[in-house]
Amino acid sequence: MSTPADDFQRLMQVVRRRRSVRRFAGGRSVARDVLLDIAEAARWAPTGANSQCFDVVIVDDAGVREKVLDVFLAQSNRLIDHAKGFPAVKKSYMANTVAIFIVLADERWTAAFPKATTAAWADEYAANNERILLASIGAVVQNIQLAVTAQGLTSAWLSGGGEDQTNADLRALLGYPAALRAVGTIPVGVPEKDVAQRYRRPLAQMVHWNRYEPEKFRPQGMIDHYVEGVRQFAMYRGVEDANAWEDADKRLGPWRDAYTTPIANPGRKLD
Ligand SMILES: Cc1cc2nc3c(=O)[nH]c(=O)nc-3n(C[C@H](O)[C@H](O)[C@H](O)COP(=O)(O)O)c2cc1C
Repeated sequence: MSTPADDFQRLMQVVRRRRSVRRFAGGRSVARDVLLDIAEAARWAPTGANSQCFDVVIVDDAGVREKVLDVFLAQSNRLIDHAKGFPAVKKSYMANTVAIFIVLADERWTAAFPKATTAAWADEYAANNERILLASIGAVVQNIQLAVTAQGLTSAWLSGGGEDQTNADLRALLGYPAALRAVGTIPVGVPEKDVAQRYRRPLAQMVHWNRYEPEKFRPQGMIDHYVEGVRQFAMYRGVEDANAWEDADKRLGPWRDAYTTPIANPGRKLD
């Protein structure tokens, strides 16, 4: 029998190896049983009020996949043209997927989430309903990505699909009703090479014991620096510790400690 320590080790192997991979080996396929096993992991995701406020369209037909690819090629062109400085990559890699999972959020199920009894509390609960819906979809996508990894496959998590234009294109192609929106799209494939790592900040910077620790608050200047010049490396490089990047000095500049040590904010100012 496995011990909790064994279980944790195995879980963490999958959690750490789950990666957003945007290159797949071509000419491969997997059995529907494998895809259904992955969908089974989605079925067990937690959702607000156990509303199960999602459906999953699995595209494994080559003809439909080509059409989904066309939708996403147009989506990434819009991103390149209209999203300010975002390091988008072309979605042509989706041609090599063994399947594409499209997670549809069913907005009608926000009816199951807490509702205000009086107008005075309407905003309080309405705004949170949307968060509950999206957080539920996040759990579904996470379960899918973990199951994909455990099956020896790899995937990406595309929020592209949720934009109005892309969602309308996907709806026209896949035939889902207007109440549903493609909040998460997960291209799944056979890894071309192993990308085991990605930049992460230190655990000790992320965790606050019992109370928010101001020295861990990442200053606005660092966020601006990330968006300006680090994001494209943090998203795509296969190295966890940014100190190990050969161009670490150049990339991290004056914010190196904030990226790589527990103390992001030695001055402890919170504004
Ligand atoms: C809500 C959400 C939306 C994302 N949207 C996209 C996307 O549209 N395209 C993409 O290539 N990656 C997308 N990603 C993947 C992130 O870029 C990726 O998780 C992050 O860079 C960390 O890399 P890792 O997943 O390999 O650890 C998204 C991730 C999340 C959680």
